Amino acid sequence: MKEKINVTDYAQTIAEGLKKGILLNTNAGQFDSMVIGWGALGVCWGLPTFTAYVREGRYTKSRLDESGEFTVSVPLGDADPVIFRVCGMKSGRDTDKVKEANLTLEDPEVINTPGIKEYPLTLECKVIYVQTQDPMLLQKDLQEKIYPQDVDRETNAFANKDPHTMYIGQIVDAYIIK
Ligand SMILES: Cc1cc2nc3c(=O)[nH]c(=O)nc-3n(C[C@H](O)[C@H](O)[C@H](O)COP(=O)(O)O)c2cc1C
Repeated sequence: MKEKINVTDYAQTIAEGLKKGILLNTNAGQFDSMVIGWGALGVCWGLPTFTAYVREGRYTKSRLDESGEFTVSVPLGDADPVIFRVCGMKSGRDTDKVKEANLTLEDPEVINTPGIKEYPLTLECKVIYVQTQDPMLLQKDLQEKIYPQDVDRETNAFANKDPHTMYIGQIVDAYIIK
């Protein structure tokens, strides 16, 4: 069962959730889910939106580009450590995250990407705008921190020059899975 919500009533829950890691789910052929810490609830072109930022090399990026839609799943309470580890550190390229993280999928209402019972606050989003960011336009100190050049992948989690692509999704449905 799903309880429809007014998404703005949950703006704080979503903002707090992002600090711990929420989920961005895709379903291009097979369901995949990845932890995101960057994101924004907003309004754009007069529509309610959720914007996600996905690094170029992520498997999720190819899935998003194929399906043109995603769901966002937010925990009501603490993040689950197993879900955090599997969806935040493993790749859908070689991992069945539904199986490894014990995710219970919930059929969607409007799009074709399921939600997740364990992270019940769900936004169904259709991608309406895609833009790859130019790291050179970023403030210098952040540029060096987030997109460092010539650093060791073993010792620096940001040792990756891949830019992020911004996906603005129109929120077409929002609910809590009961
Ligand atoms: C707390 C946390 C926040 C993260 N936030 C993002 C994010 O906003 N964007 C992104 O591209 N990757 C982010 N990641 C990394 C992905 O979740 C991770 O690389 C994931 O394994 C990618 O899965 P995939 O290969 O199936 O796409 C985050 C990871 C963690 C642990």
